[in-house]
Amino acid sequence: MNAPFNPARSSHREPFVAFVCDESTADAIRPIVAEMGWAPDKVHRGGLRNAVQTLSVSASPNILFVDLSESGDPLNDINALAEVCEPGTVVLASGQVNDVRLYRELLASGIHDYLLKPLNADMLRDCFAHAQAVLNAPKAVDPGSERAHCATAVIGTRGGCGASTIATSLAWMISEKHSRTTALLDLDVHFGTGALALDLEPGRGLTDAIENPSRIDGLFIERAMVRASERLAVLSAEAPINSPMMTDGTAFYQLQEEIRGAFETTIIDLPRNMLVNHPHLIADVQVAVIVTELTLAAARDAIRILSWFKSNAPQTRLIVVANKTHPAAMLEISRKDFEGSIERRIDYVLPYDQKVAAQAAKIGKTFAEAGKNNKALGPLAELAQQLCVLADTGDAAPAAAKSKGAKPGTPRGEAAKGGSLLSKLGKLKLPGRGK
Ligand SMILES: Nc1ncnc2c1ncn2[C@@H]1O[C@H](COP(=O)(O)OP(=O)(O)O)[C@@H](O)[C@H]1O
Ligand SMILES: [Mg+2]
Repeated sequence: MNAPFNPARSSHREPFVAFVCDESTADAIRPIVAEMGWAPDKVHRGGLRNAVQTLSVSASPNILFVDLSESGDPLNDINALAEVCEPGTVVLASGQVNDVRLYRELLASGIHDYLLKPLNADMLRDCFAHAQAVLNAPKAVDPGSERAHCATAVIGTRGGCGASTIATSLAWMISEKHSRTTALLDLDVHFGTGALALDLEPGRGLTDAIENPSRIDGLFIERAMVRASERLAVLSAEAPINSPMMTDGTAFYQLQEEIRGAFETTIIDLPRNMLVNHPHLIADVQVAVIVTELTLAAARDAIRILSWFKSNAPQTRLIVVANKTHPAAMLEISRKDFEGSIERRIDYVLPYDQKVAAQAAKIGKTFAEAGKNNKALGPLAELAQQLCVLADTGDAAPAAAKSKGAKPGTPRGEAAKGGSLLSKLGKLKLPGRGK
């Protein structure tokens, strides 16, 4: 939150304070607060209104929990809270409104997470542990640079679901609409389409880097990356397919590092088999966009990939995008069933739009640029915006964050209720989430 920072006050910060609207919420929170080693008597009644009143005359806590249930205009009221809440406070909100748009707007206004009521012990435990990890983590913003670097991996649950389409689109939007220097690193070294989508020749840069990782330095990056515009550059390859590429992943890791020094944003088109072969690549990725179609096979693999993140990279913020969606009657699996299976919400839904895809290929531009006047593709722009907000707030937890529990980036509770597919995919459930 953004009220003027007052160091004198911050030395008296409480670790945790909550303002809830009803006794059942207080009852749900107190035991978990105690588990975390915080004081249960810091759980007060009076919701957001009381939070604003109290914080206007006292120091902000490190972690603030506000119940928005009695708020008629949560966004407006959150702004009032921002006026009195000091920077550095991690604000957690909760309420009964299950609306992903509200959720995104709350995140954009600086809220760290939003929990959907009714609250349960597991979701509170996850949420508090994550908030604590964010507080403990070294700050993402290094004082020497104006903006923190944000690396986002785009991963398709299945081939053809549009991961590369979304990766190139995000890179284009972030560089063009948000004016950030952006590198698109296409790690599909044999069949990558990063350069193709931008109507560029991939060059030999990536292949050279893999064959000779010791050559990778700032100068190499400058030469090897193919410029698409003033602020967008691509590293992609069409490596020969008559022999395998021999690499232990060092080259990819080093490329990530050099790119981090040279660009504000990295978008990595990351084929899912990279998670298997080079899991350490995710260590420096703050956000993973999981692109999926709404099919049975994709549901199975989405579950497995989400579960992989939970065990291997719990600090990575996950965003799920359903792409190429058709009208409900034509879907292999409904959105609701899909969400039930993966036990979390889908964050963004993009329709199947053959016209835009064909137009993009014809004019040699990204899907986002070809469809920029198409309202149905609005969520793509929202996603690009969210990535920029996460980079600015440092809320995409930095790689060093040691979060105990994985933290899906969406309101919890509702999605877990679905589960018609769970009977089929039962043994693939995310560990610890099933009933
Ligand atoms: N929303 C969409 N509507 C229509 N076609 C799409 C959409 N998203 C992607 N495509 C098309 O699907 C094909 C596969 O996309 P691609 O991004 O290469 O998938 P992946 O990288 O996941 O294998 C491409 O021809 C692309 O133009
Ligand atoms: Mg691809």
